[in-house]
Amino acid sequence: MTAQSAVETAPVLQVSDLEVSFRAARRRVVRAVDGVSFTVREDEALGIIGESGCGKTTTGKTVAQLERPSAGAIAFRGEDLVGASHARRKQLRRRIQFVFQDPQSSLNPRMTVQDIIAEPLRAFGEWRGRQSRDDVVAMLDQVGLSPSALHRYPHEFSGGQRQRIGIARGLALDPDLLVLDEPVSALDVSIQAQILNLLMDLRAARSLGIVMISHDLDVIRHVTDRVVVMYLGVIVEQGPAEEVLTSPAHPYTAALASATPPSRPDEKRERIVLSGDVPSPLDPPSGCRFRTRCWRADDLCAQRRPELEPMGAGGRTVACFHPLDVLAGRPSAAAGEGRA
Ligand SMILES: Nc1ncnc2c1ncn2[C@@H]1O[C@H](COP(=O)(O)OP(=O)(O)OP(=O)(O)O)[C@@H](O)[C@H]1O
Ligand SMILES: [Mg+2]
Repeated sequence: MTAQSAVETAPVLQVSDLEVSFRAARRRVVRAVDGVSFTVREDEALGIIGESGCGKTTTGKTVAQLERPSAGAIAFRGEDLVGASHARRKQLRRRIQFVFQDPQSSLNPRMTVQDIIAEPLRAFGEWRGRQSRDDVVAMLDQVGLSPSALHRYPHEFSGGQRQRIGIARGLALDPDLLVLDEPVSALDVSIQAQILNLLMDLRAARSLGIVMISHDLDVIRHVTDRVVVMYLGVIVEQGPAEEVLTSPAHPYTAALASATPPSRPDEKRERIVLSGDVPSPLDPPSGCRFRTRCWRADDLCAQRRPELEPMGAGGRTVACFHPLDVLAGRPSAAAGEGRA
């Protein structure tokens, strides 16, 4: 697992065959995440996309140790998190921080900003009085807030400022990996850009790995290097974000991408409207989970579950028996597009 080419940074997070199940009514079990694998390297931003209920938040929370996996492995800098002792897991947990979707409800309204940001430090026994207060001020400065924020309460701030406070709190323990769940979906577009730019600056300044969950493909395209596309608890396609989103190989990715306006005038794009709803995760279709809504599906798709297979040279993998021609509608492959 440690094989590594000279150009790639070290993996911060390696997720292998992750499964997360929840008990549902009448003693049934929902497998919200069903065999998901991906890697996040230092300095890298990975996007997770997919329709509501496909398991994005559950994946993110499990990685950040807020949910327990039912199977699979999570390695942080090569060290197993799932089988680690409670004490060791607590030590490692601080290196992976989760920023909640809704800053309105995730920040305690009765705590001052100073206490909100300091809470993780206190929880890990790292509050050092004046030194830590200075650190909190420095943290506020990094996210573009003045020291006057310290003694104010969340309701005194705008949505964008509250999201900054949430990010400052996530950074308090100087994590290696930040998992952000829809960090900008509640914000105005102009404020979204500010927060996304802030995240990109922080990533560069701190060698931070980022996992960003979002419905918004433009956001993913703007911020992430690689993207994972989930459908009903499984990954259907993953690879370089720009490449995957401009020339999808999996029909599901194509349908998602077709709902977003093209980013370049030379991009051909027809809107693909999927029929039906996402099937219940309590009773997923046999074979390929997407087949009940897929216009390319045939008998094979009902009989066998497609595995993720490499496609092209860019490190993309696709789980589909009938993938789309990724070069159609594109002037060239994404080579030389200059992503870090
Ligand atoms: N605590 C829980 N108990 C029971 N079922 C859950 C729980 N959390 C999530 N689920 C179920 O797991 C599946 C995946 O949920 P998850 O919240 O991870 O989806 P998501 O992709 O983040 O969706 P959204 O885009 O709406 O946020 C859903 O079917 C959901 O109902
Ligand atoms: Mg979610």
